[in-house]
Amino acid sequence: MLRVKKAVIPVAGLGTRFLPATKSIPKELVTIVDRPCIQYVVEEAMRAGIREIVFVNARHKEAIENHFDSNFEIEQTLLARGKKELAKQSSEVGEGAVFISVRQKNPLGLGHAILCAQPVVGNEPFAVLLGDDLMDSDPPCIGELLEVYERTGKSTVAVMEVPRDQVNKYGIVAPKGGLDGKVFEVASLVEKPNPEAAPSCWAIPGRYVLSSQVFESLKVQKAGALGEIQLTDSLDTLAKRGELLASVYQGRRYDAGDRLGYLEATLAFALKRPDLRAGIERLIRQAYSELEPS
Ligand code: UTP
Repeated sequence: MLRVKKAVIPVAGLGTRFLPATKSIPKELVTIVDRPCIQYVVEEAMRAGIREIVFVNARHKEAIENHFDSNFEIEQTLLARGKKELAKQSSEVGEGAVFISVRQKNPLGLGHAILCAQPVVGNEPFAVLLGDDLMDSDPPCIGELLEVYERTGKSTVAVMEVPRDQVNKYGIVAPKGGLDGKVFEVASLVEKPNPEAAPSCWAIPGRYVLSSQVFESLKVQKAGALGEIQLTDSLDTLAKRGELLASVYQGRRYDAGDRLGYLEATLAFALKRPDLRAGIERLIRQAYSELEPS
């Protein structure tokens, strides 16, 4: 069985839910505490042992690639001033990984973005991490999927249970049967269903390990929900052939591409930082005391 060496991270979307910030700043570069969202995502892949990162990027978002390059001016100036620790914080971003970029000329949808990575991925299995989905867990979410893939040889998606009134924000899987406590076979998938029509409340939070077979479906995939070429629709083809598993994710997940999700992530990650925790606790208490009783 071929090993998973590459992580494809699509970052070519328009980020319309975060306007006007995303007019000129990629939403994947919006800062969570003191590092851009995309850095957490790349570090999750690296913690799972992946060393080849493939960005599917767009013309106006090169700053994402630059973040993982060295910044000679900053680093040399800091070293000359004896600020070794700060220079290191800049230079060690993405250290140990190779970054490759391909372009998606038009944001035709997530499925189309993944297909743009085919010339780089070839016939290897690969991981997919969405650049604005933050997963906070140990072991890393993508590492758990890699473990299932290595054990079964089947494409695997992460799933988490969401309230029924929120299923229309996600790709939703219909379970077929149980394999063990955490992993089950997927019968079919549907993108952003109405709550009444959803086959379950198992939502996909933006982490996948896929076999290269998915490219064959993506090549002929027609536009689906929102008029976009949806990855979910091609995964449905794999599921109907009995080739897709779901692994239940039990960590925390934040949608940093959404305003409320971004604020939630900022608070949660700041509270985990020893240098900030006391200050954040004080701010939360103060804000709470100023709330009108509801
Ligand atoms: P989203 O649907 O969250 O991104 O896709 P979006 O379209 O940029 O966001 P909104 O809804 O307009 O605010 C999840 C990830 O897939 C990428 C996005 O950049 C994001 O990281 N994506 C999406 C692409 O690379 N290409 C696409 O055509 C669509």
